[in-house]
Amino acid sequence: MPQDAARAKGLEVVFSPDAIAARLDELASEIAQRNFERLLVVAVLKGSFVFAADLLRAMHRVGLEPEVDFLTLSSYRKSTTSSGQVEILRDLDLDVIDRNVLLIDDVLDSGRTLAFAKDLISARGAKSISTCVLLDKQTQRAVDLVPDFRAFACPEVFVVGYGMDVAHRYRELPYVGRIVTNAM
Ligand code: IMP
Ligand code: MG
Repeated sequence: MPQDAARAKGLEVVFSPDAIAARLDELASEIAQRNFERLLVVAVLKGSFVFAADLLRAMHRVGLEPEVDFLTLSSYRKSTTSSGQVEILRDLDLDVIDRNVLLIDDVLDSGRTLAFAKDLISARGAKSISTCVLLDKQTQRAVDLVPDFRAFACPEVFVVGYGMDVAHRYRELPYVGRIVTNAM
């Protein structure tokens, strides 16, 4: 059913709502096994907001009680290719000193966004920094970064939905899709 609805929008479902939900429960268990003390989850906005919201509730189901903050970064501006420059659009509210931080992002592509966030939080004195991504793109990284946790490996295609956009569209979709034709 989601596949038909997606086709009508010129998209193809890559990861369905059910597949995502099942994987997030596993991911939450993997995170719980690490026994992070005083865990601070930092969601990198905007793209990760749906993933972070669902993962946080999956973390709650396995008994975790993280604190949560948000960091808005920009790397992709209006186009589907990375500009190579990362900017802080909105900074954290909380102090990261001596905290175990789990950075959550939607896509790991060139690696520049997460590398920037890691450096920033490390410079502010975090005790540890781990990374968790929904999609680990099988691309040539500009920086050497392997995520500590990932929901899915993803082919080298531009994806939308489940929080991710192209020119501010498609964030509301409950699945991850790729664009196959112009919308009907
Ligand atoms: P990186 O800095 O090249 O690793 O890019 C990561 C950021 O680019 C992610 O936080 C996403 O917001 C965005 N991004 C990368 N690939 C895609 C995609 O296929 N669709 C939507 N956003 C993407
Ligand atoms: Mg992003």
